[in-house]
Amino acid sequence: MKLDERQQNKESTTELIPGPLSLVAEVTHRCPLHCVYCSNPLQMKSADSELSTEEWSRVFHEASALGVIHLHLTGGEPLLRPDLAKLVAAGREANLYVNMITSGLGLTAARMQELKDAGLEHIQLSLQDAEEERANEFAGARAHAHKLKLAALIRQQDIAFTVNVVVHRENLDRLEAILALAESLEPQRIEVAHVQYYGWALKNRGKLMPTPAQVERSLTLISQAQARLSGRIQLQAVFPDYYARYPKTCVGGWGRLMMLIDPAGQALPCHAATILPGLEFDSVRSHSVEWLWRHSTAFNRYRGHGWMKEPCSDCERKEIDLGGCRCQAFQLTGDAANADPACSLSDQHGRLVEIAQATPSHEAQWVYRILTNHS
Ligand code: SF4
Ligand code: FES
Repeated sequence: MKLDERQQNKESTTELIPGPLSLVAEVTHRCPLHCVYCSNPLQMKSADSELSTEEWSRVFHEASALGVIHLHLTGGEPLLRPDLAKLVAAGREANLYVNMITSGLGLTAARMQELKDAGLEHIQLSLQDAEEERANEFAGARAHAHKLKLAALIRQQDIAFTVNVVVHRENLDRLEAILALAESLEPQRIEVAHVQYYGWALKNRGKLMPTPAQVERSLTLISQAQARLSGRIQLQAVFPDYYARYPKTCVGGWGRLMMLIDPAGQALPCHAATILPGLEFDSVRSHSVEWLWRHSTAFNRYRGHGWMKEPCSDCERKEIDLGGCRCQAFQLTGDAANADPACSLSDQHGRLVEIAQATPSHEAQWVYRILTNHS
């Protein structure tokens, strides 16, 4: 069944709060990569706390009944789950469009076939750089050569294919070569995203923050590439927050479009929400997906506009960006109910500008994502 048909078949069941459209299933925090900009929380979940196949399957069916259309299987590295094909099949049985976000490590021809047979519909493969040595440095693992071989394997299957590229100061000067390499992998879509500073990326911000000249050049290169690839490959770009005039509508709005379930079953409104003080996160182990979406205090805390302070509460853009990102507001201002300081109307916006313009620290050591401090 086509995606738009599924959408029509899933008129939301709710009276007041429409159901989410996407479920992000972090099926494990384990990962063979240690990316310096990983968005996983600093406190990760251990393997022995992970939801079972049956628990995930129940979650997928409940999410579908609530109106979810897209299932994103991610991690960590989802391929580290030996039951991944069963999870894909459970997602399809629940009538979800199943996407896997992967580093590709652990994906063989046989595994690819198994996932395809289970119903996998879309793969997003990450690419760290065009130069192998630098790519492996940013990933904290020798992964680059394997990823390039993998693209051919993916193309042999009838699976939609996106190449994800995260850009930052240490690779932006090679953006043309990176785009050319991504194009040579023949995906349907390329997504170029400037680093978002949460989790491990925040720890490495001094090394990752691009210069104003790099940002400007990247925008030109991306719009040239968009024109060149038009009709062949869709090229999407995510703008760097610290150089923005207005903030992004983070996760499409708190408790509005997306629910994330972490490996141990905690339901979160966004990937960084556990940093926010005073919020309690309930689990799919003790509640249904519908209850979590409608009644959990965490999902309701920043829904709508009632929580907003000035300038957001009186702002004509509040329906557009919903005040930006709660986690960034907390990280940079100490209060999650403040306007995201990426907004030029925030009285703390100057601090972001200062950080973006600070002297680069090329010599600093990378802090690599590592699963030691888990709960
Ligand atoms: Fe968005 Fe608030 Fe800035 Fe207005 S003041 S643009 S609502 S973040
Ligand atoms: Fe949490 Fe933006 S990452 S609201």
